Amino acid sequence: MSNIIVLGAQWGDEGKGKIVDLFSDRFDIVARYQGGHNAGHTVFIGQQKYVLKLIPSGILRPGKLAVIGNGVVIDPVALLSEIETLEHAGIDVRNQLAISNRAHVIFPFHRLVEKISEDSPDRVAIGTTSRGIGPCYEDKIGRRGIRIADLIDPAAFAALYQPLRKDKQSIAKAFGIQTLDDDVLDSYRELAERIRPMVRDTAYLLNDAIRSGKRILLEGAQGTMLDIDHGTYPFVTSSSAAAGGACTGTGLAPTRINGIVGVSKAYITRVGAGPFPSEIHDPRGDTIRHAGNEFGSVTGRPRRCGWFDVPLLRYTATVNGFDSLIVTKLDVLDALAEIPVCVGYELDGKTISEMPARQDALAEAKPLFETLPGWQTKTFGITRLEDLPQRARDYLHILEQKTGIEVGCVSTGPERNQTLIVPGSRLQKLLC
Ligand code: IMP
Repeated sequence: MSNIIVLGAQWGDEGKGKIVDLFSDRFDIVARYQGGHNAGHTVFIGQQKYVLKLIPSGILRPGKLAVIGNGVVIDPVALLSEIETLEHAGIDVRNQLAISNRAHVIFPFHRLVEKISEDSPDRVAIGTTSRGIGPCYEDKIGRRGIRIADLIDPAAFAALYQPLRKDKQSIAKAFGIQTLDDDVLDSYRELAERIRPMVRDTAYLLNDAIRSGKRILLEGAQGTMLDIDHGTYPFVTSSSAAAGGACTGTGLAPTRINGIVGVSKAYITRVGAGPFPSEIHDPRGDTIRHAGNEFGSVTGRPRRCGWFDVPLLRYTATVNGFDSLIVTKLDVLDALAEIPVCVGYELDGKTISEMPARQDALAEAKPLFETLPGWQTKTFGITRLEDLPQRARDYLHILEQKTGIEVGCVSTGPERNQTLIVPGSRLQKLLC
């Protein structure tokens, strides 16, 4: 019986949504452990496109349970709008979704505080998704946040909401902002009533499920390089996207986890500001952006594109302990005659293969590339390793050798069936 974590090995947008949706067939429960509606998971099932922001993509499988864990921050308006869209598509959300009573709630004043911070000339603009995620986590860590359990208790909610809002209004006034956020006490009480039937103590729910022999897939949002501790701080999100966050964000002990699987594109992208050593600054960046449709599924922002970065992957494999790597969007590289791979960095005249802690050092690091021949053959939709062109297999083999992690699965298109699982891989065993 295996419980696994599937998470991003780069800066997010690695294609985790499709992979989690595909694997969820073999698990009973899919649980999200951090982040909020800053994440965007796009899943195609036939002609139908689903963009999931808060709800784990396991919801798309009839009969499976989707859990929003305690480590997630929830904007009730965004959650209910997502629920309605899925219900419209015929999904039985209310019976398939459990929401942690310990998850924290995002309010409009969180977006206001985020805007103040992002616009402030004295602070580094992170290029956030403007969803209020960071300030909500600030309140959580500051021990003044409001949780779902409070939201659904009208008296507790009123007692906690007004002081927190006043707090934010003082901040806004201090920054000369007079347009304050709306008072949402009444409207959030109504939203709370609609959410209430799905609220559970999900730590008990998940642990009981394991005891009764059920299998759980834990789904990360964003990616390890956006993790608050291990990412390119301060250009990170405000939660623990790395594997450790899966335990704190769900209430499952590390001893309950049997495997950790990283998801990486065959190249790399990043949204928002921050250092990016292997970023492509020539027209091939545009080619990849358009071939891979690299535009944010939540904000629509064009994603910055770069070549596969080995030191970065080795770092994320180290802090997560990956058992296996899933390489997505291999087909996006089909047309290229040559494919550079970043194999190290040069910093202050020295070659380094480790990830510097300071973002300014990473910004100065010059990428060292090895260039591999492209395969210039269509790989789109291939489902057997032996059907890939030899050069594409060589490319995957080099990624394996240089990162030290097996490539257990390759995605060759957006649909569930456009995927190959490498026979005999550790991943295949974890999925059995
Ligand atoms: P926040 O999560 O909105 O606070 O944004 C912090 C940083 O994380 C910004 O650079 C965002 O672009 C980035 N970010 C947040 N969520 C995602 C995601 O799902 N994919 C990629 N980048 C993300």
